[in-house]
Amino acid sequence: MKFFDTTLRDGEQMPGVSLTVEEKVQIAMALDELRVDYIEAGFAAVSREEAEAVSKIARDVAYAEVASLARAHKPDIDAAVDSGVDVVHVFIATSDIHMKYKLRMTREEVLGRIAESVEYAKSRGVKVLFSAEDATRSDLEFLAEAFRTAIEAGADEINVPDTVGVATPSRMKYLVEYLKARLPPVPMHVHCHDDFGMAVANTIAALEAGAEVAQVTVNGFGERGGNAALEEVAAAARFLLGFRTGIRMERLYETSRLVAKLFGIQLQPNKAVVGDNAFSHESGIHVHGVLNNPFTYEPMTPEAVGNKRRIVLGKHSGRHSIEWALKQIGIEPSPELVDYVLRRVKDYAARKRPVDEAVLKSFVDEFQALFVREIPRPR
Ligand code: KIV
Ligand code: ZN
Repeated sequence: MKFFDTTLRDGEQMPGVSLTVEEKVQIAMALDELRVDYIEAGFAAVSREEAEAVSKIARDVAYAEVASLARAHKPDIDAAVDSGVDVVHVFIATSDIHMKYKLRMTREEVLGRIAESVEYAKSRGVKVLFSAEDATRSDLEFLAEAFRTAIEAGADEINVPDTVGVATPSRMKYLVEYLKARLPPVPMHVHCHDDFGMAVANTIAALEAGAEVAQVTVNGFGERGGNAALEEVAAAARFLLGFRTGIRMERLYETSRLVAKLFGIQLQPNKAVVGDNAFSHESGIHVHGVLNNPFTYEPMTPEAVGNKRRIVLGKHSGRHSIEWALKQIGIEPSPELVDYVLRRVKDYAARKRPVDEAVLKSFVDEFQALFVREIPRPR
């Protein structure tokens, strides 16, 4: 399977986010190092600055195919092609609600526009990816007809967007199988939004049903609830489904942090795969298990995705955590010392204060002052 990253296009549509050209290029280079298969660099027709970013990315990226989004009309397609991309991503909506209230076009007009714009983009010598926006709320037969029209006009690949995140895994599976059974065999992308928190599950269901390309954004950044998160889809595809991908998994954490920093958005600690708590353990039972064998409470190793294991001291800690933490700071954990420090850790953490290394050392010092008397030297 392949990854089409749209952090720089759909991700950047996140309210309040605006990247400079240099920041976009920096993210594109990190995505290229991560070895995503496609980078959607932007929407070249949006502005001169956007076109400049797309051009620079198309010039500098070494491995990925670079794409620009384009509405299904010539000026957008020209702006995309002129920015030097490998792939023009042509889209038009196919749901009745979008055709009626947004496009103000009939089904026939939409089909005509698909044929005309895809043919035109092909005539400009690029690879064409065609998206039927709001596919998951489109009439099924019409959706298949729209994709067939695009493929007959020369589209090399097609994309099935769940634009407002209304799919469920079983519906996504049905949709992919339905389309696969009716269309000529071109690679199928899926593009899932997270309005109901199911973007990753829907993407995985689509891949299991035979879709070949996952459209994702780093950290799931994007409009409203965001998009399917690259790092979560990559980890599930690799570790749960055993799919082969080109992703350098060990770079996921670093890439996630870079994107969060440049987007100016702090990641929640419980974020799957790349969150600070993804491999953190506090409760005594879990720490005991993890110290004996990390797979007791970790479904993959933190190193596999570039993250780190953290043993956290707090109100749920047990003796094993304290023994481990004392050894980490070079102190032999006698049973009396462990008892004392465990009690102090629980009291301290109960007042919502974090127990870091300095605090731990202060508990050891207290114990020594209270209970370890120097033997008086004979005069
Ligand atoms: O969500 C969506 O439908 C999109 C398309 C433009 C692919 O982002
Ligand atoms: Zn989208």
